[in-house]
Amino acid sequence: RTDPLVLGIETSCDETGIGIVRGTTLLSNTIASSMDEHARYGGVVPEIAARAHLDELVPAINAAVAEAGIRLADLDAIAVTCGPGLSGALMVGVGAAKALAVALDKPIYAVNHLVGHVGADLLRSDIDASDTEPLEYPTIALLVSGGHTSLLLVRDLVSDVELLGETIDDAAGEAFDKVARLLSLPYPGGPQIDRVAADGNPKAIRFPRGLSQPKDMAAHRYDFSFSGLKTSVARFVEQRQDAGEPVPTADVAASFREAVVDILLTKALAACADYGVPRLLLGGGVIANHRLRHVATERTDAAGIALRIPPLSLCTDNGAMIAALGAQLIMAGHEPSTLEFGADSTLPV
Ligand code: KG4
Ligand code: ZN
Repeated sequence: RTDPLVLGIETSCDETGIGIVRGTTLLSNTIASSMDEHARYGGVVPEIAARAHLDELVPAINAAVAEAGIRLADLDAIAVTCGPGLSGALMVGVGAAKALAVALDKPIYAVNHLVGHVGADLLRSDIDASDTEPLEYPTIALLVSGGHTSLLLVRDLVSDVELLGETIDDAAGEAFDKVARLLSLPYPGGPQIDRVAADGNPKAIRFPRGLSQPKDMAAHRYDFSFSGLKTSVARFVEQRQDAGEPVPTADVAASFREAVVDILLTKALAACADYGVPRLLLGGGVIANHRLRHVATERTDAAGIALRIPPLSLCTDNGAMIAALGAQLIMAGHEPSTLEFGADSTLPV
């Protein structure tokens, strides 16, 4: 079938995302976030996220349908994130998707959130339909957010995605949020560190690059670790405070940001080189980071690698990327899911 009309539901973390696509054309992308409700806890609280999804889902579906100018009856299918993510949060989206599919008598596609992030790159809006080349295979994808830090080898979006590595402790965005807290910056910390770092010296403090030493690279070539880096920043800040000296916040932020960027891109470019893949796709909320974007451009240019960064509204968690992946599955002739599927918080790619 050509260009199926698909509604995608994403509730794996704190964003209630509803997207509607026709093939690779983006028709609407409605996002409601419970971020503000988590701020005073310094991180996403699963129970609060799940309850917020329940409140936001129906209004978000109505808004997306209105914006796309379609009727629910026109849909060819429903796509929904069934994992990985927060169990309770996922269950709200999965339950809603099943209810919608049954009520409308439409097929349903249960999809993987991480693969969805890659699918985001396929989407073109009606207005700028021709400005980008379509996604080519194979490609290496680096996905970095508050919930995941994963490196994927994508040979085919719907049939051949391989997880090369992931974080063994904190996600990169989580590390930004925790370090921001150490520096008394508000949540979410990533944008704050990014802002403060602009006035700092990235070479002021040499923070450790987790899993980047030769011995670590042998066993964890494509894995990430940020907890040692975070501890190192904490120790530096404590030492200054204990000595009654001011904490050089801008330099700490800049040096920390530099370390994270260095770790992420060293691993991603190693994967490109090892697999002979001249393409790197970035996704996830941390992609908003200015230094990451800058250094990614520099290093991929130098290595002759094509860098792809979807618009930020499609990099952070959203329903459109899930709908896009659903549409690809339909176009590739995949059968829909049976209604028995559940939410799987640790779903592999
Ligand atoms: O994809 P996303 O919106 O959703 C979740 O993971 O829930 O990513 C949010 C994460 C947060 O940890 C936030 O601090 C981080 O992305 N982030 C950033 C920046 N903007 C958002 N990290 C570094 N630099 C930024 N400019
Ligand atoms: Zn995500």
